Amino acid sequence: MTTPPKIACKNVWKVFGPDPKRTLETLDLSLSRAQVQEQTGHVVAVRDVSFAVQEGECFVVMGLSGSGKSTLVRCLSRLIESTAGEVLIDGKDVLKMSQKDLLDLRRRKMAMVFQHFGLFPHRKVIDNISYGLEVRGQNRAQRTAKAMEVLELVGLSGWDQHYPRELSGGMQQRVGLARAMAVDPEILIFDEPFSALDPLIRRGMQDELLMLQDSMKKTMVFITHDFSEAIKMGDRIAIMKDGEISQIGTPEEIVANPVNDYVREFTEDVPRYKVLSAGKVMRATSGAVPAGIEPVRTTTKIESLIPRVADTDTALPVVDMAGVLVGEIDRSIVMRAMISKS
Ligand SMILES: Nc1ncnc2c1ncn2[C@@H]1O[C@H](COP(=O)(O)OP(=O)(O)OP(=O)(O)O)[C@@H](O)[C@H]1O
Ligand SMILES: [Mg+2]
Repeated sequence: MTTPPKIACKNVWKVFGPDPKRTLETLDLSLSRAQVQEQTGHVVAVRDVSFAVQEGECFVVMGLSGSGKSTLVRCLSRLIESTAGEVLIDGKDVLKMSQKDLLDLRRRKMAMVFQHFGLFPHRKVIDNISYGLEVRGQNRAQRTAKAMEVLELVGLSGWDQHYPRELSGGMQQRVGLARAMAVDPEILIFDEPFSALDPLIRRGMQDELLMLQDSMKKTMVFITHDFSEAIKMGDRIAIMKDGEISQIGTPEEIVANPVNDYVREFTEDVPRYKVLSAGKVMRATSGAVPAGIEPVRTTTKIESLIPRVADTDTALPVVDMAGVLVGEIDRSIVMRAMISKS
């Protein structure tokens, strides 16, 4: 038997308003979200969304304000009840879970980190972090030991006895992250965790989270409205507009082939040479790998090829994972790929 994806959403809808079910049943699918709102007074916040997240993957949900990102991820743990569709966690239907299983899901399996940290102001840092363990009924010694461990992991040793208000924004978000990690969840959900931080701190936090993820290997759902953050953090990205997913793909797939103008606009400010790899832009060839020139892998980012192609007029051979020649890449291909608006 194959293992099911960690998270699967199947045709999930969320309609807000006085009579969501009926509105959905009688919905004219040709109407836009704004038209539905005008005619029925209901907001279609999430519209027929399907995706799957594999274990250990970081799945980014990206889109402009109001596109439905927060609503969608809240449907995963039923903090918001979806109007229609299925949500499966480890193959189990969340909508059919008993109250007890649902509590277990929220307390053990999933943890959330919020944009505005969501810390308890009257609790010290240590008691904020150990909150989830307290709810689970662990004794003070156990939960303090665990809290001190994650506190160190997020670089805040020595701050355990302080109150959140005594910490900077970046530090408070570290506490938020530590609190989520303390319960050792299998799934971490981030709702724009770094949006309130200034750019430098933000970059540092992104790097640290990536480093932590290297060893933690959690399944992550990460919301952002910043495309640079999305391509940095995401194994795959889902781009949302008006409640719908416009495109799902790896950062490279999206930058190389945006499906419409909405997606293309996000990709325009991204340095393409950081995202595109040799395999995506090469000229296809076959035959024997030429002797005397070190081949390039299809997965190599073109950024790292710039010095080599700058120094030679000869095309570099490109090989696949098995070492078979599949193409070649030269200076003009690299330069054209860097400026192309696709
Ligand atoms: N409780 C609610 N009642 C009615 N409408 C809501 C409710 N929550 C969200 N909405 C509407 O649903 C749509 C999607 O909102 P949502 O908060 O999911 O967007 P978002 O992508 O997370 O935006 P942001 O980037 O600003 O956080 C918006 O039009 C919003 O007004
Ligand atoms: Mg939101």
